Amino acid sequence: MQTEHLLPDQMGMARAAILLAAGQVMAIPTETVYGLAGDARNGQAVARIYQAKGRPSFNPLIVHVPDMDAARSIAQMSPEAETLAAAFWPGALTLVLPLRPDAAIASLVTAGLDTIAIRVPAHPVAQALLRLTGPLAAPSANASGRISPTSAAHVLDPDGGLDGRIAAVLDAGPCPVGLESTIIGWPQGCATLLRPGGIPAEAIAATLAHPLADHHADPAAPNAPGQLTSHYAPQAPLRLNAPDPTPDETHIAFGQPGPFTLSETGDLTQAAARLFDTLRRADREGRPISVAPIPDHGLGAAINDRLRRAAAPRG
Ligand code: TXA
Ligand code: MG
Repeated sequence: MQTEHLLPDQMGMARAAILLAAGQVMAIPTETVYGLAGDARNGQAVARIYQAKGRPSFNPLIVHVPDMDAARSIAQMSPEAETLAAAFWPGALTLVLPLRPDAAIASLVTAGLDTIAIRVPAHPVAQALLRLTGPLAAPSANASGRISPTSAAHVLDPDGGLDGRIAAVLDAGPCPVGLESTIIGWPQGCATLLRPGGIPAEAIAATLAHPLADHHADPAAPNAPGQLTSHYAPQAPLRLNAPDPTPDETHIAFGQPGPFTLSETGDLTQAAARLFDTLRRADREGRPISVAPIPDHGLGAAINDRLRRAAAPRG
């Protein structure tokens, strides 16, 4: 398959809508990372997503919709879900909610669960596309277990990317947030942080006016998000919390200058936006990688989560 390179102009948007309506899958920009999108109502399109990613089929997908009304037609929004949606949508927040029995969503999207992960993305190109297509299922547009893409070049990376495996990539430049969405669910009735991400957990707890419940990773329950041990994995071994690089390491700095710094000034938002691109560039040096300590608050918690997964033993 020849992967088409589309720009978000009138022609590119129209072509993207045609491909998606025909059940093809393609990479689309969001403010967090590029997503590998397919029509969420079309089981065959959803199957193509799993196939292109090489993703284990028990791992359910996020559905992207243009607005809250569209979300309400697919999921049951509790009062707390409404509060979070009003505060953070459109944006980098995904809510895991009960799936409405009458929702026209292919069952492969939820991998048979009776809940659905749903998000209203803020990226103007994603917004415009969703208004042409209806709900799009989209995991991050990387092969399963690899680093999430924050540019079209990452999506098409000859080393482990999706070039030739998907119909097209809609190229809107780098993703402004650079980390996947924060995922909140209510598995035991209480709002629970299922995956740290682009919106700090502190901001969500403040909006709810109560702390979030802890999510204890259960390796026996692979449908909990992001719990596969090794995720976001570069090829090189990764040493974390390392202020002291050795001469044979590629060093990812924070709060200091350097060819692989996440932020010269110690800005966590900038570090999040640069994280995945920096990991890819450092990995291409072909040497072990060390990463400076990153503060564990705000977006730093999500950055450290991704770094721990990148450093985890490969499964
Ligand atoms: O920012 C993002 O969230 C990006 C962009 C493209 O929207 N998407 C993304 O999707 O990161 P993905 O598939 O790489 O991660 C979604 C996570 C997975 O870990 C999956 O297990 C979890 O969400 N998930 C999806 N549906 C779920 C459900 N019903 N219950 C629990 N977890 C669910
Ligand atoms: Mg992913």
